[in-house]
Amino acid sequence: MRLDKFLSHHLGISRTLVARELKASYVTIDDHVIKSGAYQINSGQVIKYQDNIIEHIDYKRYFMLHKPKGYVCSTDDPDYPTIAYFIDEPMAEKLHAAGRLDLDTTGLVLLTDDGQWSHRITSPKHHCEKTYLVTLAEPLSCDLIDIFAKGILLKGEKNLTKPAKLNIIAPTHASLTISEGRYHQVKRMFAAVGNHVVSLHRQQIGLITLDIAEGEYRPLTEAEINSIN
Ligand code: URA
Repeated sequence: MRLDKFLSHHLGISRTLVARELKASYVTIDDHVIKSGAYQINSGQVIKYQDNIIEHIDYKRYFMLHKPKGYVCSTDDPDYPTIAYFIDEPMAEKLHAAGRLDLDTTGLVLLTDDGQWSHRITSPKHHCEKTYLVTLAEPLSCDLIDIFAKGILLKGEKNLTKPAKLNIIAPTHASLTISEGRYHQVKRMFAAVGNHVVSLHRQQIGLITLDIAEGEYRPLTEAEINSIN
């Protein structure tokens, strides 16, 4: 990347102003003053503006977060706090959720700045399974296992849902594994069969299982990152 583009982005100023700061010798790379905005920066270089290091993240980042209720997964929301509240990382605004959870849903959210990786999680073509723990208002009947496995028609949609695995744990508790992420899918699937989701928690995405306390986050391991393919 060109130095002036990098500085404009990181300092939040126009390229014209960047040119002025460069001319004033305020910018060093590996302790050498650089005055040319066209300079191509490389990974591992230490870039300083007025003697302060500018964080230079040149690798992809992957995290899991245990989302509590009451937070939205979008980057900005006029009404509710966002999950960014929990993420104490430089340039946290560059991270996005690979598959959002509703305001009242808890559990596993994967965050990354790698768009291709998150596409493999969210695109129905990749069949990435997501497992939810569900509490329901009404008792579940065993027929539902077959109904969900065959796919159901959600209100206002034309195509059946992809086969889903329902595991009844107790009369009003189940786990449900789906491989797509339609809008409010789990809640709508149970609504379509006359039930109502009282609480919803995402426990697993592909082979990545939530293993941290609510409100915590951690980087994914190499094996977890590579498991999404
Ligand atoms: N399905 C839902 O209905 N809500 C979620 O938050 C996730 C899946």
